[in-house]
Amino acid sequence: MNPTLFNELCLEQLTLSKVTEGETVAVLSRGDERLEYAASFMWAAQKLGASTFHLRLPEPVSAAGDWAVGDVGLGDNPLAVDALKSADMVVDTALMLFSKEQTAIQAAGTRILTAVEPIPLLARLMPTREMRERVEVGEEYLKKARSLRITSPHGTDVTYQLGAYPTMTEYGYTDEPGRWDHWGASFVFTGASDDGVDGTIVLGPGDVLLPFNSYVQNPVQFTIEKGFVRDIRGLAGHSSLDADLLKSYIESFEDPRGYGMSHVGWGLDERARWHGLTQFGGGLGLELRSYYGNVMISTGPNNELGGPNDTPCHLDIPMHGCSLYLDDELIVDKGELTVDEMRPASSGR
Ligand code: FE2
Repeated sequence: MNPTLFNELCLEQLTLSKVTEGETVAVLSRGDERLEYAASFMWAAQKLGASTFHLRLPEPVSAAGDWAVGDVGLGDNPLAVDALKSADMVVDTALMLFSKEQTAIQAAGTRILTAVEPIPLLARLMPTREMRERVEVGEEYLKKARSLRITSPHGTDVTYQLGAYPTMTEYGYTDEPGRWDHWGASFVFTGASDDGVDGTIVLGPGDVLLPFNSYVQNPVQFTIEKGFVRDIRGLAGHSSLDADLLKSYIESFEDPRGYGMSHVGWGLDERARWHGLTQFGGGLGLELRSYYGNVMISTGPNNELGGPNDTPCHLDIPMHGCSLYLDDELIVDKGELTVDEMRPASSGR
């Protein structure tokens, strides 16, 4: 994309995020990645009368294979953390999500926007106030609920006991002190109490495995008891390849907390596409978390919600065509939202 166009998108983003004259916007990057994002965000911040600087971390010293969430090298760099804490807003293009440092920066009152997806996707999923309102309607429903049940034609029937943890929203911009958000996101989620998930989840073809950034080909059955996945297997008569890959991945962390059940919720953005991974193979797969009517389960850490599990082994799994009930009220009906205020106004849905 023409850098001038991306400058304008960053200006729109920072305007939604209420950057004002006299504020300071820090941009975090790492190595050679996304340097053009930093330039555009700094241009936009200056346009709004804010002060701005670019904090660039070095490349990792060793190439460590699997993705360890949150580790961008800030842990032994207190001066860098202090610089980010001193800003009103941090634009994170390095992905420090789930790190202690991010939590500390938010606690200092700094709002954080993560921007890591490919620029054409950021352009298509430009946040809007209308989308925020729809996501916040979802938040109202989710935070009152005491149980959440997911069913699917593949045989999923799982129940989450809610109430122990807060409900969180992501709508792609951040205008409140200490709040984190992620450009390209439109979803709502919470977590069950630590021992509060029981049942069966059957991943069907087309469900999405992140960070594998792939679609399930062969059904995978998770058996879940008291908040932990106790068994992962393929279904009889099908290849067990996807189940075997999932098991191999989780086992590689040598951390039993990797089998914990993490956040759960649904996506609302009709501009995000289920087939998105066929277009953008890299990135974080945010489009798949956001696409309208997906029901997303996840495994691993729940420290983002205030829980004790901070394992680096994390899977997000947006599922297609599921139904979701809150206290027995149908909210997602086979991939279609049932509440008018959460549906797009102009789509005729
Ligand atoms: Fe996640």
